[in-house]
Amino acid sequence: MQNIKQRYDIIGNSPGLNRAIDIAVQVAPTDLSVLISGESGVGKEVFPQIIHQYSARKHGTYIAVNCGAIPEGTIDSELFGHEKGSFTGAIDSRKGYFEVANGGTIFLDEVSELPLSTQVRLLRVLETGEFLKVGSSKVIKTNVRVIAATNIDILKAIHQGKFREDLYYRLNTVPIEIPPLRNRKEDIHLLFRKFATDFAERNRMPPISLDEEAQHVLSNYRWPGNIRQLKNITEQISVIEENRKIAEQTLRKYLPDYYESKLPVIYDAVDQKTFASEREILYSILFDMKNDVTDLKKLVLEIMQKGPVSTEIREDNARIIQKLHQSVGSDDREDILNKKYEIPRPQDEDIQDTEEIIEESLSLEEKEKELIKKALVKHNGKRKYAADELGISERTLYRKIKEYDIT
Ligand SMILES: Nc1ncnc2c1ncn2[C@@H]1O[C@H](COP(=O)(O)OP(=O)(O)OP(=O)(O)O)[C@@H](O)[C@H]1O
Ligand SMILES: [Mg+2]
Repeated sequence: MQNIKQRYDIIGNSPGLNRAIDIAVQVAPTDLSVLISGESGVGKEVFPQIIHQYSARKHGTYIAVNCGAIPEGTIDSELFGHEKGSFTGAIDSRKGYFEVANGGTIFLDEVSELPLSTQVRLLRVLETGEFLKVGSSKVIKTNVRVIAATNIDILKAIHQGKFREDLYYRLNTVPIEIPPLRNRKEDIHLLFRKFATDFAERNRMPPISLDEEAQHVLSNYRWPGNIRQLKNITEQISVIEENRKIAEQTLRKYLPDYYESKLPVIYDAVDQKTFASEREILYSILFDMKNDVTDLKKLVLEIMQKGPVSTEIREDNARIIQKLHQSVGSDDREDILNKKYEIPRPQDEDIQDTEEIIEESLSLEEKEKELIKKALVKHNGKRKYAADELGISERTLYRKIKEYDIT
């Protein structure tokens, strides 16, 4: 681990980072596809290089393609090559990256940016090792290991129809998740010192350092741009500040939205409040339902004991019937109020059945639990989509899963 970190200039010792490096090394000797995900600036770029270097392909070609930077019209030709005359301007035939990198590795950065038609070609080459040049019908074989990276939520892209699900599963054979910097707080000050020293050496000046409060602010900032942002800010301060010991007040000037970065705490408080009021509402609904059930049980029991709905029963239970009247559609109201129900006097076991059904169908909690389970099963445990379908926030779903102990 230390060797790799030294060789690739990787700073940090957080468990998330170490785990990512560990997986990279483990998967390197295989030919499996790897999908590296993580926010922008977390340091994804070094991972495909590690994987290539620690594989048997290390003497083969390594090509990094930024899929987001190639125009949609030329991407197929870049990746798979084209035949002479296959489109206006194709004056020569050209080899694509998949042909050039035969025996080596291709890194597809920002893979989610690939047009859907290119995704189809990519899936084919991943599954069969075969592809066609643009404008050609001759099948070409290649042996390329594909590593892809994304800084967006691919599942969301799938949901929006922008990324093929089958390709996602094919690429994601081994996922490597690089955690955002705010989740590896212990690395933040280490990285700062490294960037400050590097800058000072390059520019022959004393390095900047942080006082204790400033260190605290640095480590608790949200770092939306992750390590890239930390590096930029360290270099900015190194250039601008004359005093090499940086105090908290000075540091804050360089941290955009420093106060907003603490917002999650406020959100938490709001959420607690929403939670409390939601619970309040649920309790009152449950309370009302319980009363209704009790009333209904009484009514049903009376009907069973005294036979068909008589005037007497109707008068005795006017309030309950009135309530029922309010909660059903107008077409049914007449029926409920006026129709002579011919309910046969039931046998004992029937009564038990009826009671069971009522008990079961009116438990709001059970129903909710059941719906959540169904939604989770339907979406293969993907909370985000389950929450979407249930029409609640992912956070609320998470809370309910915990609350109901759903596994
Ligand atoms: N662990 C680390 N130690 C030292 N430098 C790092 C580390 N991780 C990232 N960096 C540096 O941070 C910068 C951003 O990293 P990188 O380009 O790999 O980000 P990325 O995850 O590919 O982001 P994007 O999705 O925007 O392309 C680079 O200059 C890189 O050298
Ligand atoms: Mg990158």
